[in-house]
Amino acid sequence: MERFDIQGGTRLEGEVTVNGAKNAALPIMAAALLGSGTTRIRGVPHLRDIRTMSAILGELGARVERRNGVIEITPEDESRYVAPYELVRQMRASICLLGPLVAKRKRARVSLPGGCVIGVRPIDLHLKGITALGAEISLDGGYIDAAVDHLTGTDIFLGGPFGSTTLGTCNVMMAACLAQGRTVIECAACEPEIVDLAGFLTKMGARISGAGSHRIAIDGVDELRGADHEVIPDRIEAGTFLAAAAVTRGDVTVRGLRLDHLSAVIDILTRIGVAIEPTADGCRVTATDGFQATDVVALPYPGVPTDLQAQMSALLATADGISVVTDKVFPDRFMHVAELNRMGARIRKEGNSAIIVGRPQLTAAPVMASDLRASAALVLAGMAAQGYTIIHRVYHIDRGYDRIDERLNQLGARVERVQEDLS
Ligand code: EPU
Repeated sequence: MERFDIQGGTRLEGEVTVNGAKNAALPIMAAALLGSGTTRIRGVPHLRDIRTMSAILGELGARVERRNGVIEITPEDESRYVAPYELVRQMRASICLLGPLVAKRKRARVSLPGGCVIGVRPIDLHLKGITALGAEISLDGGYIDAAVDHLTGTDIFLGGPFGSTTLGTCNVMMAACLAQGRTVIECAACEPEIVDLAGFLTKMGARISGAGSHRIAIDGVDELRGADHEVIPDRIEAGTFLAAAAVTRGDVTVRGLRLDHLSAVIDILTRIGVAIEPTADGCRVTATDGFQATDVVALPYPGVPTDLQAQMSALLATADGISVVTDKVFPDRFMHVAELNRMGARIRKEGNSAIIVGRPQLTAAPVMASDLRASAALVLAGMAAQGYTIIHRVYHIDRGYDRIDERLNQLGARVERVQEDLS
């Protein structure tokens, strides 16, 4: 197991370029199963979750090759339909194979993903949507079994107690592409990753309108072909770099990001006193001492993403005053709070909120990464703290950030990846 040893107190300066979005690439890789022929996806980041998805696609009879930054996927053996537990348990996003399998292969057996440290994470809306399209679904031995003769388009309301569902919308949209007739998804998720998937499906020959709004209409077609596509920049990685620049009171130009995908985050940063200046292909972030506290609410897009809630909390731990950070998407996603408090932060969890009493300086401590975005928050805090922070279990961060240590070090951070001695 690896850990990060971080010498805090350095100011980040320079340029960094954002990679393609993990959460756009994963459903697009799954959607490749819908096509006949080869799909080429550009800009797919080098991440553990991408390797897991590649392995599952391999189990499902697809040939997956990565060369020169392009992933090529060719469905070959279409008689396969089982996404096994050993792989699905490594990555919850595997659930988005359900829609493509049912639509193209008429059968799916996908391991139930289970909960994770950020919350219970039910999949009732995915099942509701696929059932509404006509599939018979049963749960057996920890697996979802789905079968259908043909899917039929229909109107589906996909809202749940926490609003829209991103991967649920992906699943239903993918399945509806090969259904007979028109499907309308009401209360669809509006995330940029949905728009990217819809763009890819359209290149495959699908007929979709309204992606990016709460109402998506899909007119089913008989077949889809492989397509070429470049995934959108990772708005969460970009937001993490913006927060890293801010928390270290740095001066960083973040290249290759879509500012329009980060409006809510930029609004928060500007409000607390961080300067954001748009550039030709991204923005320059400059920060000095003395942030003001503010309130943040994580909401479905276009609100502040829940995937940046922990990083925003780390940043506000060093602001002047009291901030309230609320997560309305994953109300239990606060594993970072106790660890940040070990570093001198003053944060109290209250329901689905963290009440943060800012202080000028955090202090280094040994801490434990619990999940992907919580680990990113700890790295930010470690860079801002005085002294030497040790973050254990950093494999979590490698699921979503490609070589984050090397890229931060190029900006002047001092993050060392160390192999843990387990004896
Ligand atoms: N929900 C239900 N029923 C469902 C599905 C979801 O009640 O059937 C609830 C969830 O429990 C949650 C809310 O709806 O409270 C939203 O969950 P959503 O379905 O949108 O999450 P997801 O699609 O499973 C994706 C991202 C997550 C990101 C969320 C929210 C991928 C691979 N994952 O998950 O990303 O936090 O959307 O934006 O796209 C991450 O990258 O660190 C990550 C966890």
